[in-house]
Amino acid sequence: MESDSETNSTSDNNFDARKYQEVYYGADPKTQQADVESKFVLEFLHDIFASGHVAGGSLIEIGAGPVLYHIVSASERFNTIYLTDYYEESLHKIDKCLQGKKDAFEWTPYLKYICNLEGNTSTPKEKMEKMKRNIKLMKYDVTLANPLQPNTVPQADCVIVVGCLICACKTPDDFQNALNNISSLVKPEGYLIIVDYLGASYYLIGQTRLNVLSLDENAVRQHVTDAGFSIEEFKVGNKFGIHREVFDCKEVFCLLAKK
Ligand SMILES: C[S@@+](CC[C@H](N)C(=O)[O-])C[C@H]1O[C@@H](n2cnc3c(N)ncnc32)[C@H](O)[C@@H]1O
Repeated sequence: MESDSETNSTSDNNFDARKYQEVYYGADPKTQQADVESKFVLEFLHDIFASGHVAGGSLIEIGAGPVLYHIVSASERFNTIYLTDYYEESLHKIDKCLQGKKDAFEWTPYLKYICNLEGNTSTPKEKMEKMKRNIKLMKYDVTLANPLQPNTVPQADCVIVVGCLICACKTPDDFQNALNNISSLVKPEGYLIIVDYLGASYYLIGQTRLNVLSLDENAVRQHVTDAGFSIEEFKVGNKFGIHREVFDCKEVFCLLAKK
């Protein structure tokens, strides 16, 4: 496959946040709905947060990028959500959405889907208002022992990391270190949620190819356990709207683990 540039996510300084939103989260032009893989992930997150046992004062989302929808269900359960990423530009895109700027990315199809899962007890607009009140944006680097430096926050009741670790880590050892660092941010008895991909080697943003770490389910389970968590749920999905040439993953997984 030809590409203008080839890079690892962390060293890359040309992560095109807007193009990423459009390629991976643009609504289906015919149905105007979220794609099949996102629905699988949103149902997993909805089930966890609707159950009420994963709740508390604070949640940290790691490597959110320019993507807002993974913490919508969680925003009903936590007073403060620290939404973080390595790139300032991605956090800026999130801020635009929260401020309701005209050129902000349109998350309504995703918000509608979540509202529907919740029995339409609130509207997409109310969801955005709630998130605007409880989200704090912050820089995060998974490679650092204090990944939030120069900031510090109290240990969280829950940490969620979606589609970030296989991008930010080049080797299984990096993956383990990143999980160990994440573990230090979780309260004893707190929860870790990971959504990521198995058997992937790259994804494209336009013509830019970003390499990712290929892992299988057993390796993920072992790393999470070695970081001090016990896995309570591990779900795997294999339906994707995105073409395999754009992102060559084999499966998506969602896991819930307790420290
Ligand atoms: C494929 S994107 C995923 C974005 C979003 N969470 C999603 O699910 O679509 C990978 C994300 O990992 C972030 N990332 C890369 N290296 C990182 C690092 N060292 N620390 C934290 N985040 C990093 C990137 O900035 C990017 O937002």
